[in-house]
Amino acid sequence: MIELINSEQDLARQNFPVFVPTMGALHAGHQSLIKLGKSLSESVLVSIFVNPLQFENQDDLAKYPRSLEADLKLAEAAGAAAVFAPTVEVIYPAEIKKISAGAVADLYEGAARTGHFAGVLTVVKRLFDLTKPKFAIFGEKDFQQLFLIKKMVKELELPIEIIAAPIIREPDGLALSSRNVRLNEADRKAALIISKSLQESNLQEMHKVLAQEPGFKLDYLAEIDEQTFGPVSANTQNKRVIIAGWVNGVRLLDNKSMGSGA
Ligand code: PAF
Repeated sequence: MIELINSEQDLARQNFPVFVPTMGALHAGHQSLIKLGKSLSESVLVSIFVNPLQFENQDDLAKYPRSLEADLKLAEAAGAAAVFAPTVEVIYPAEIKKISAGAVADLYEGAARTGHFAGVLTVVKRLFDLTKPKFAIFGEKDFQQLFLIKKMVKELELPIEIIAAPIIREPDGLALSSRNVRLNEADRKAALIISKSLQESNLQEMHKVLAQEPGFKLDYLAEIDEQTFGPVSANTQNKRVIIAGWVNGVRLLDNKSMGSGA
């Protein structure tokens, strides 16, 4: 049976070189992160903590799926050595300092969710301090989150290598997300327009595809420079299209590399 760790003291007694932070509701996407971790070391630690600081909307926090028993099984099946599932008190003792996430944190996901990335960086830094990993693995689906975590690690000179794991999709193209469980059959069908639009070669064509689906409400569709998260310029090495929107009140994200050059 996989080991379940709840306290800072029990965690400190062990050494896990690879760390996969999650908010639970594990699915095949998380399992792919754990499996990638196993290719780096035998000892992979998964954390499960629904971080109140990154939810600006209390309803969203209350509705976030919680399934510890099933999560333990999925983490074990993917090869994790242990799960760290702390309480809010363990993560946020009184003295925790909130990390400021900088200007990129106000764009895109940050524009729609004020304070979200400061909450993400604060919990990730706290989790890193507690777990002290050599490698930490994050999915590319949350591309802006990945960018900001890499930036924080660089700026704070943390001795941790951030590993990016590719998006895992359903056979029909839908990017795996813990939020997908909130989609009914019709929503699930409407959500397919997101990955379908990303098959086009430019933003104009993507907009045309998205306009075909009345069940999808676009928030943003943008092409960004992967190094700066700013607009593509003559100096751009790698480009990426990022997209977010709602299907029946469920926020969904996706992105795709658009190759190199401006
Ligand atoms: O991507 C997530 O699941 C969360 O934002 C993270 C990185 C675990 C921080 O709570």
